[in-house]
Amino acid sequence: MDFKNKNIIITGGSAGIGLATAQTFITKGANVLITGRNSDSLNAASLKINSQNLKTLASDISKIPDIETLAKEVAESGNKIDVLVLNAGIAKQHSIEETTEEVFDDLFNINVKGLFFTLQKLIPHLAEGASVILISSGVSVSGYAQMGAYAATKSAVDAIARTAATELADRKIRVNTVAPGLTDTPMNHQTPEDIKNAIAAAVPLKRIGEAEEIANAIVFLASKEASYISGSYLSVDGGVTIRR
Ligand SMILES: NC(=O)c1ccc[n+]([C@@H]2O[C@H](COP(=O)([O-])OP(=O)(O)OC[C@H]3O[C@@H](n4cnc5c(N)ncnc54)[C@H](OP(=O)(O)O)[C@@H]3O)[C@@H](O)[C@H]2O)c1
Repeated sequence: MDFKNKNIIITGGSAGIGLATAQTFITKGANVLITGRNSDSLNAASLKINSQNLKTLASDISKIPDIETLAKEVAESGNKIDVLVLNAGIAKQHSIEETTEEVFDDLFNINVKGLFFTLQKLIPHLAEGASVILISSGVSVSGYAQMGAYAATKSAVDAIARTAATELADRKIRVNTVAPGLTDTPMNHQTPEDIKNAIAAAVPLKRIGEAEEIANAIVFLASKEASYISGSYLSVDGGVTIRR
């Protein structure tokens, strides 16, 4: 898979899955722009990747002016976007009874509203034949306790992806969803080991995922090898959502 001179944007590219995805695209020759809220994290990511082909932009997906700045930066570059990875997201675990309005709003403002308007404002800048990948989660189709509001945001992501796949098809733009299972990233660094081990034991492959494994699925869907795949929901979860 060759992405030489392809222009890639990854929201939330300073850590975890987004960072691994940026690294993978860079090794395949792409020009990559990553976003995130924290400039220090973006600088650390930049030092780690250490490539002239990587650019960073401090931008909060939940703030419309920040999304407009991103769109303006793309417009001024004169380049169209070949691959857009809508990855930025947060997770919070609470039972439905214990979910506060603040937690609910934070989740929806970043995972849904931010993703939706980033897509909307970047649609005019997508190249014909571009690939858009939305990062959902296996919880969007399961019923895990403590994940009600987060799971609802990811079900919304799935719905947005389906609609976008239909609306953008006339420009030969493919839109797909990647749904990771529990993956070893900073998002889960606070999760106690015994809980991670219990989750891993329930995975048919008996382990949690690595960020690079999710990145590989994203890169595949972005590639010309996936040229007839659009509107798909790809689980990358060691088999945990197998339906029997
Ligand atoms: N890890 C898992 O087990 C797992 C499983 C299923 C799905 N996912 C999904 O995969 C995606 C990536 O997760 P991850 O595990 O890689 O998370 P992570 O390690 O916490 O990294 C999240 C990235 O998103 C950025 N981000 C968060 N809020 C943002 C905002 N408002 N605006 C812009 N950037 C923002 C973070 O940077 P800043 O904090 O500096 O903004 C960081 O770069 C998320 O959508 C998540 O829901 C993860």
